[in-house]
Formats: sequence, structure tokens, C-alpha cells
Amino acid sequence: MKHTKVKDLLNSTTTLQEVNAKGWVRTFRNNQFIALNDGSTINNIQCVVDFENTPEETLKRVTTGAAVSVIGTLVESKGAGQKFEIQVTKLEILGDSDAEKFPMQPKKHSLEFLRENAHLRVRTNAFGAIMRVRSVLSFAVHKYFQEKGFVYVNTPVITGADAEGAGEMFQVTSLPLDNLPKNEEGNIDYKKDFFGKATNLTVSGQLEGETFAMALGQIYTFGPTFRAENSNTSRHLAEFWMIEPEVAFNDLHDNMDLAEDFIQYVVKYAVDNCGDDLKFLEGRLLEEEKSKPQADRSEMPLLEKLNFVLENNFKRVSYTEAIDILKDSTPNKKKKFQFIIDEWGADLQSEHERFLVEKHFKCPVIVYDYPASIKSFYMRLNEDGKTVGAMDILFPGIGEIVGGSQREERYDVLIEKMKVIGIDEEELWWYLDTRRFGSAVHSGFGLGFERLVLFVTGMTNIRDVIPFPRTPGSAEF
Ligand code: 4AD
Ligand code: MG
Repeated sequence: MKHTKVKDLLNSTTTLQEVNAKGWVRTFRNNQFIALNDGSTINNIQCVVDFENTPEETLKRVTTGAAVSVIGTLVESKGAGQKFEIQVTKLEILGDSDAEKFPMQPKKHSLEFLRENAHLRVRTNAFGAIMRVRSVLSFAVHKYFQEKGFVYVNTPVITGADAEGAGEMFQVTSLPLDNLPKNEEGNIDYKKDFFGKATNLTVSGQLEGETFAMALGQIYTFGPTFRAENSNTSRHLAEFWMIEPEVAFNDLHDNMDLAEDFIQYVVKYAVDNCGDDLKFLEGRLLEEEKSKPQADRSEMPLLEKLNFVLENNFKRVSYTEAIDILKDSTPNKKKKFQFIIDEWGADLQSEHERFLVEKHFKCPVIVYDYPASIKSFYMRLNEDGKTVGAMDILFPGIGEIVGGSQREERYDVLIEKMKVIGIDEEELWWYLDTRRFGSAVHSGFGLGFERLVLFVTGMTNIRDVIPFPRTPGSAEF
């Protein structure tokens, strides 16, 4: 007999004579009521066991975490909170679970404990919900771009270009680390390495993406990205997923419009399609907030916050305006910021970004036209000669969620910039070719997928929105 997903059973419009459900036992009450979950929904289906006609041996094996199959009748439930339940006629244990040793006991666990059990935490309500929302969001990403005619491009994970990632790349090599071949100068002889040169894991697909945008017009990437920066924060992962659209003929303002429209679309898609999970996560967040000091609490419940982002335009301010606001701000004057803003040119730290979003504007903010000196070499130099057409989108509780720019399409200006910074022209010969053959205005951005999932799920630590987080000192599973 084919089994039916719990979600479909709960959504049934009629009672059903014989159904089969398979899943994992969340709880077993009074030797009679199994709360069964199969991951298709946050909701369990109640399975009422005919304990008088079920062998004692079988009943004993219905423990939290066990995999079971039930066959029975789908009937209207007299219990509160559910429309249907299964009156079980046949109960089969598919896989036993040692009740005492099973780490996911039906009680509250700390997020730290759950992280140490990332292979089992997905069996909890919260992590099931988070991972379903993550999946729906990633579908929404593809749906948005595909509907707009963007081409999905898979840029390489192993890259020979390290221009973007100075100092924070993971090296990829097949050389024996305990016996490295040396060249005549006594340096490591990368000619003997697998690719005949030094290679790394990518920190961004942008540069390759740009070459495709200059042929296909509108492209996007969505793939794993690696950064060896030693930032042990709740916003950084060493392995994360990034979405990078790149569009020919778009200038900085088109780029901001695209990013805003895109974010609103995917958030709305999650709101429309993850109702039960988001409602649960909203409750979880409320509980968590109760244990926090008043000042750190979010002012809005999760769904209200998501709807706020959908209904309000993001506030756009230039870097120069942002610096003026920050200079005049109370935490700056009272030296409450760790990094005091005293002059134009200072890089914005996450404390400043969060002040702008959470205290000053109280809505998502796009900061644009940053000083050239604090941004990447490929960003387009503005007429003023000191700022570039960069834009960062800052979100409440998150800080930077998007980083992007209009690209420097002028060959001479780009080459000059690379010289000043010390980037080898030869290493990026292929990138420079896009500026030699049919160069045109183009723009793009990168959105950190986990930061988006953080925002939508209301979680506060990025380690809790990716299945198996990689962070400094930690690569279990
Ligand atoms: O601002 P970033 O470094 O921009 C780029 O890599 C550009 N090449 C993007 C482009 O224009 N195509 O990174 C983009 C976004 C950040 O805004 C942030 O959301 C996320 O990627 N991000 C991280 N997310 C998790 N862990 C990390 N270590 C991250 N570093 C960046
Ligand atoms: Mg950035």
C-alpha cells in the first residue's frame, strides 16, 4: 500500500476508509496516542492505537524517534487543534529508537546543544520549519529570476583568480603537504600542482558571472561560496550560499530596484507558502525574546516584520548622508560605538549599519556611493573621482544582506585601478577582455542566502539556518 504524506492527510476534505502514514514518533501518550511527523509539515498527525488488540511488545517499541508505519481510517478528530486523526488498525515498527539515548527528547533543547546534533536537530519542530522555509526560499529565488528571463549560470567552485578574495581564501591543492615540491627560487612549485597553478575555493562567482552577462544579458548564480575570514560571529559562515545576479545595461539605480524587488518577491513567496512554519517560528521568537533584555528585543512579531518589508520601500541614502547621520548620532557622541565615526571615509561597521536600520530609519536601508578606498577594484568610479557606484542593503537584525555595484566598464579606468591596488593584469586577462570587446554599462549584486533565511525565519545565529554549518574550528558532519 502506498503511504500518504501527513500534510495531505491533514488537508484532506473527507474522511478516508484506509490510509497509510509513515514517519517518526514525536511522542506516545497513554499507550494510545502517537504524534507522528513525517517532515511534510510542522503538524503531527495523531494516530490512535487500538492498544487492547496490539501486542504489548509492539507498544513498547513506540518510542520517541522510532520510525513507524500505521494503517487505519482517517476520521474526524475529537481532540482540539486537528481536523483529522488516524484510527490505527495496523501498527508496524520500521526502525526502533532507544528512548533513553535518543538526543531529541520531547522537551526544550538549547540551540547550542542542537548544533552539536545537527544530524538530528532537523527532527525538531523548529529545525524542520527552518529547513522547509529555506527550501521554499531557494525555489523562490529561481522562480523570480526564471520568470524574468534570467539565465542561471553555474560558476566554478575552484578558481585560479584570487583578486577578489585577498587573504581569505581556502586553498585547493593535491600537493603533498608534508613534502612540497620547490622551484629553483625555493618557493612552492605550483606547476606540479593539480591544475599547474595555485587554486582556491571561490569567494564569489561575480567575475565569471560578468563575462556571461556580457553575452546573455541577464544572468544569476546561486551556489556555495567560501571565505576563510576568521570572523566567529553570528552572521558569518566559512561556507555559505550566495545569489549573484548580473545585468548588462543596468546602472546602479536599476541595480537597487532589482535587489529591492527581488527581496520583496522572495519574502512574499515565503509568507504566502510557509504559513504554518512561519507561525511556529514567530512563536519561537517570542519565547526567545522574553529571555532577552528589553533593549535587545525586536519591536515587531516575525510576520509583522516580514509584511513591513513587503509594504515599505527601502530607504536609500548615500554613504555621505549616512556618515552625517552617524556622526551626529547619540551613540557616536556618547562614544557608545566601538568604532567612533569621526570622518568621511570610515568603513561602516555592523554596529553603524544596525543603528541606521534599527534606530534611525527603522526600515531596510540601501547605502550607495561609498568611498572608492573601502570598496572593491571593479566598482565604477563616480564623476567626483572619490566615490564608487556601490550599494549595500542593510536589514534589521542582520546588517548587510546585499553587497553590489555598478561595474567599472571603462578599460582604462579599470586597468589604472588594478595597477594602484597591485592586481596582476595577467591573472585577470579574461576579465579584462570583457572591457575590450563590446564593453557596456552593467551591474550586479550578491545576496547572502543564509542572511535572507535568518531574516525570514527570525533566527538569530547563522549557524541555525544552514544544515551543517562550517565555522572556524568546526566542520563536523
Ligand atoms: O559583499 P560581498 O562580499 O560581495 C561580493 O562578494 C560581490 N562579489 C557580490 C556581487 O556584487 N556579485 O558579499 C555579498 C553578500 C553579503 O552582503 C552577505 O550577505 C553575504 O554575501 N556574505 C556572507 N554570508 C555569510 N557568511 C559570510 N562569511 C559572508 N560574507 C558575505
Ligand atoms: Mg559586502
